[in-house]
Amino acid sequence: MNTIAILYGSSGGNTETVARQVQDLFQGGADLFNVREVTLEEIRDYPYYIIGTSTTGIGDLQDDWEGFLPSFTRLDLADKKVAIFALGDSASYSTSFAESMKVIYDEIADKTTIVGQVPDEGYTYDDSMALVDGMFVGLPIDEDNEYDMTEERLTAWVEKLRAEFL
Ligand SMILES: Cc1cc2nc3c(=O)[nH]c(=O)nc-3n(C[C@H](O)[C@H](O)[C@H](O)COP(=O)(O)O)c2cc1C
Repeated sequence: MNTIAILYGSSGGNTETVARQVQDLFQGGADLFNVREVTLEEIRDYPYYIIGTSTTGIGDLQDDWEGFLPSFTRLDLADKKVAIFALGDSASYSTSFAESMKVIYDEIADKTTIVGQVPDEGYTYDDSMALVDGMFVGLPIDEDNEYDMTEERLTAWVEKLRAEFL
């Protein structure tokens, strides 16, 4: 078992692809779980979690996270650290960009330490409730319009997490 568990829910496959890229960037230091089939026992002992989700509607949780988030929040997360990334489409859903990460954030922010917040510089969108104090609560990734920026965004984010997961 590594110290980092990547937990993802993906309706169409993009979030899964990105979760695998995140795992690769940790070079063997992170384990990967699809929340559609994971059990609480499998992930209970990790000190660090990376949550990945797609945005599938305004204010909605991705379907598999809808099923698993109530279990996840029953874990004692007090001494743990959690980072979040969310897939979104900043062109078609420009006024609700990557908002699913805020739905998850709102459920866990008072129970744990959230890391991996990023500024919104470099993103083109009109509105998103996924910002707190001017920062995205996690990393937005747009595979529909800005797939050419994904690798650079993930590389910088994983470097930041390496420093914050201590
Ligand atoms: C029904 C539906 C609703 C969506 N709503 C949003 C949205 O509100 N905001 C957003 O940024 N992206 C939205 N998207 C775009 C997806 O989040 C995006 O395409 C993502 O890459 C899908 O990831 P997945 O393949 O892992 O499910 C929506 C997509 C679908 C199909």
